[in-house]
Amino acid sequence: MADNAQVRELVSKCMQARDRAYCPYSRFPVGAAILTAGGAIITGCNVENASYGLTVCAERTAIQRAVAEGHRKFTAIAVTCDIRDSFVGPCGACRQVLIEFGTDLVVYLTKPDGSYKETSLKELLPLPFSPAHLGK
Ligand code: THU
Repeated sequence: MADNAQVRELVSKCMQARDRAYCPYSRFPVGAAILTAGGAIITGCNVENASYGLTVCAERTAIQRAVAEGHRKFTAIAVTCDIRDSFVGPCGACRQVLIEFGTDLVVYLTKPDGSYKETSLKELLPLPFSPAHLGK
């Protein structure tokens, strides 16, 4: 479980990641920062493509970077975009990708002013299909 300082850092890093989004088509920047069980923070932003369907969301960029760097256990993720008047959740595809690595993930939905709403992957993706169903 993240302590207060870790949550503040996670939130701040997801906003920095949003500033690096490559989104010339949608002009909708998204940033994510994932906290590993060991306390490392790995960030991601959305990376779009002229072949629109090849776009990768910020959350998936973050988790794929983290796995590639050797992390498999995560405790929390913070996500942000430029929407100021509501807390925005990860898309359905990203929820599924996140659940691959465990159901016990705290999710901080972050507004551009740094305020956040705490929720969980369990709440965002009830009755999931997970590796457990494949006996993995
Ligand atoms: N996007 C994300 O990065 N994460 C989400 O959870 C939702 C959508 C990106 C994809 C695309 O680059 C832009 O936001 C507009 O859909």
